Amino acid sequence: MTRRARLRLAALALLFAVSLLLAWRVLPRFGGVHGEASVIQASIPVSSPVQNQKDLPNVPLRSLAAQRNIHIGAAVQMEPFRSDATYRALLAKEFNNLIPENVMKFGHIQSERDRYDFVDADALVAFAQQHQMQVHGTALVWYRNLPKWLTDRPWTREELLLILRQHIYTVVSRFRGQVNSWDVVNESVSPDGESLRSSIWLEGIGPEYIGLAFRWAHEADPAARLFYNDYRGEGLGKKSDRIYQLLKELKQDNIPIHGVGLQMHVGIDEPPNFAELKTNMQRLNDLGLEVKITEMDVQIMDGIGSQADKLAAQASIYRNVLRVCLQVPNCTGLSTWGVADPFSWIRLVNHRPDSPLLFDDSYRRKPAYSAMQQILKSAD
Ligand code: XIL
Repeated sequence: MTRRARLRLAALALLFAVSLLLAWRVLPRFGGVHGEASVIQASIPVSSPVQNQKDLPNVPLRSLAAQRNIHIGAAVQMEPFRSDATYRALLAKEFNNLIPENVMKFGHIQSERDRYDFVDADALVAFAQQHQMQVHGTALVWYRNLPKWLTDRPWTREELLLILRQHIYTVVSRFRGQVNSWDVVNESVSPDGESLRSSIWLEGIGPEYIGLAFRWAHEADPAARLFYNDYRGEGLGKKSDRIYQLLKELKQDNIPIHGVGLQMHVGIDEPPNFAELKTNMQRLNDLGLEVKITEMDVQIMDGIGSQADKLAAQASIYRNVLRVCLQVPNCTGLSTWGVADPFSWIRLVNHRPDSPLLFDDSYRRKPAYSAMQQILKSAD
């Protein structure tokens, strides 16, 4: 071999070694936003004594959740979704369940009679498909977010039955095979748990509107998972008893209902009772129902201590709720009501800058995020 050939061979070998090193240590840090755990973990050297936790690539919640057979979701708002690429990247990277926060509600989708507007809902469903996310639709029947044409004048019972059936058939069949689960009926029990909540549907149709809504949704998409969704019925007490009673009756009447959504809007000054949550989930399991945490947020402004204390208290609530979900077989997922703090509905409702979600104003991961990661990784 000539000297020149030897040199060329040595240069080639060096190039090869450098490429190997690059592929091993550097490239994984630039992994795509929606790589699943298997892909990311494959890039971590199996035994690397000098590497500490901080150097390891972050494993997204959705990947960890998939390994535990549950989903982690978020409610999505159209404004940041349309205008902010970082918001979309975060959504696709961390979550595998997408809930349109407002654009599948009656007032949005049928704001004029018989004229359905699916533009926003379609955009979210397409995004979910592109990023292998489930879609949870909300809500087919609710006492709020109704269009003016519906609330502005009285209707006969027959007319209301027709309006509701038409709405449910049109919306559910439009997304057949694309929306995995629906909140068919939202917040139908009164806040004190004494009775059914007064609404256009209860006054105009009677309590049977609930069962009818489930039947129609099931006819429109027999494969969709159908949910009853409500708030402050997470633990034990009058309201959760009333919800339980309602669900039990629906099951006895052979109404096609598959699950119940526990919203979980809470605060560090009023944490949920985790033991009660578990008992409640278990009794719902015994009714044959799936359970999901559907709208979790944890307000911190009314807590005590430093900001760090408050964030730690918040993390502990997220951790414990997720732990309970992992402990009961019928709990299939946890979704937060928003992707990041700046878009939380709590800020609008309370007119103050609370921070109830997993990512802060700069989309940085909060202690609550790490707590969720840790519990998803742990065996207990
Ligand atoms: C809220 C949205 O977050 C707001 O943007 C909207 O103005 C009102 O509705 N329970 C529910 C959700 O079931 O649909 C609500 O969402 C929050 C409370």
